[in-house]
Amino acid sequence: MNIQWYPGHMAKAKRGMQEAIKLVDLIIELVDARAPLASRNPDIDELGGGKARLILLNKSDLAEEKWNKAWTGWFSEKGFFVVEVNSKNGAGLKQIHSVVGQACREKIERDRRRGIMNRPVRGMVVGIPNVGKSTFINSIAGKACAKTGNKPGVTKGNQWIRLNRSLELLDTPGILWPKFEDPWVGLMLAMLGCINDQILNRDELALEILKFLEKRYPDVLSGRYGTGQGEGPAAMLEGVAKARACRMKGGEADLSKAAGIIIDDFRNGKLGKVTLELPGGNGFSSKEAPGEKNQ
Ligand code: G4P
Repeated sequence: MNIQWYPGHMAKAKRGMQEAIKLVDLIIELVDARAPLASRNPDIDELGGGKARLILLNKSDLAEEKWNKAWTGWFSEKGFFVVEVNSKNGAGLKQIHSVVGQACREKIERDRRRGIMNRPVRGMVVGIPNVGKSTFINSIAGKACAKTGNKPGVTKGNQWIRLNRSLELLDTPGILWPKFEDPWVGLMLAMLGCINDQILNRDELALEILKFLEKRYPDVLSGRYGTGQGEGPAAMLEGVAKARACRMKGGEADLSKAAGIIIDDFRNGKLGKVTLELPGGNGFSSKEAPGEKNQ
């Protein structure tokens, strides 16, 4: 399955982000913990040069704990500050404030030397579609947040969310697009729901998910759908259609419906904690399909 996707508005969004980044001290980059490199946009390193950097391994609840730890170590070694979070239930969010303090220590001390007290660190949340940017902002801002910045009707400008005395976020997240010359990176992003489903063949995607799970998490499929091991993805898809009574009018198996169930279950964590991409070397190897990496 080969996926290519280059939204036309990407260049414009990149220019917009370049402008916005000038306003902040810190870039808070969300990645999907299940594929932390594939779900980054490498442009951000160039765009964010010179700013403090924090990586949030979001959806950490959906990835394997041991690989979350390994990725945290991997990014830390590269000089990023890293926090594992679950933006949906708020786990890990409290830790962010102290890590921001460490990431922006130089700036805070510089301000202090100049007699500037209590100027909050300004951060910008960025990430590719579906990594959880809006969920994160809503979750960390909560109800207590106050919107600051320009009043409506006055000059049009950026809105800031003041989280506390020391941290403000630009209230619109920066959307980046994934980049993938490597088809397996594209496939992982499709599996995670970061690529518009309308350009995907969902039946094929479900087969790829089954192929991956059969190799890396074989027990999961028998546990949830009762499909036998070693059956091969096509037979497993039929097995799922049968187990879930997915039938068309004439009684034939509705494989597309079964494919949809598999994709949704996989993305929502109903098939258990799954890590697609493992750290090591430069990260992902183009020679290997996700399912071919050994644990
Ligand atoms: P975006 O702004 O980056 O595009 O992402 P958004 O916040 O819309 O989140 C995309 C999906 O990921 C949402 O699910 C959201 O609930 C889910 N999500 C975000 N963070 C986490 C997390 O840490 N853990 C888990 N398990 N899920 C997370 P959805 O199905 O599109 O919407 P909903 O039905 O949950 O509202």
